[in-house]
Amino acid sequence: NIKACIFDLDGVIVDTAVYHYKAWKRLAAGLGFDFSEHDNERLKGVSRMRSLEIVLECGGVTKTDAEKEQLAAQKNTWYTEMINQMTPAEILPGAQEFVQSCRDAGIKTALGSASKNSMTILNKLNIVNLFDAIIDGNKVSKAKPDPEVFLKGAEELSIEPQFCVVFEDAIAGVEAAKAGGMKAVGIGDANILHEADMVVSGLDKVTLEQLEILP
Ligand code: BG6
Ligand code: MG
Repeated sequence: NIKACIFDLDGVIVDTAVYHYKAWKRLAAGLGFDFSEHDNERLKGVSRMRSLEIVLECGGVTKTDAEKEQLAAQKNTWYTEMINQMTPAEILPGAQEFVQSCRDAGIKTALGSASKNSMTILNKLNIVNLFDAIIDGNKVSKAKPDPEVFLKGAEELSIEPQFCVVFEDAIAGVEAAKAGGMKAVGIGDANILHEADMVVSGLDKVTLEQLEILP
């Protein structure tokens, strides 16, 4: 009774966290403080502006709204320079195959990402056509854990939320899926993503049969 699968992008289809991290670290260095890999974990699934606020908080730095706009734009320039170099080789193991297996089984597929750079990344990976609907950071006004991004995906696919499964690596993303009345498969650590209905280490470790027996 699964009719649609909705996929987060960063951390599920591709590992962009490393590029986000490099760009934030460079921004922090310019402001005179170090940004650690540990703190980078807090940025997963979080919008660009909220990420900046977390980074500034880590450095104990305060900025005006206008300065924040400018800093976020600078970070994004560095980030886009890096993602423009991405190739299909960077698609995470099993991701393309799993999304394709959904399509082959007649299950609709959608992307549900907070990133405003989603289209650039999908184009670089050459997988735009894997998705029947693409909802990215440009189409939503409420960030995860609000379910808006996934509800819009379900709506564009014309599938009721209870027949949708969301694949997410971020706590906020799993919460968003559950808040939207959907099933959630966590990608990562079961101790962290404990609200998910099931947790696997990657899309190479999940089968359509497993989805059918989700609670
Ligand atoms: C999410 C990432 O997918 O997108 C976050 O997990 C990121 O780390 C967010 O901040 C927004 O991305 P972008 O590309 O719009 O700056
Ligand atoms: Mg993610």
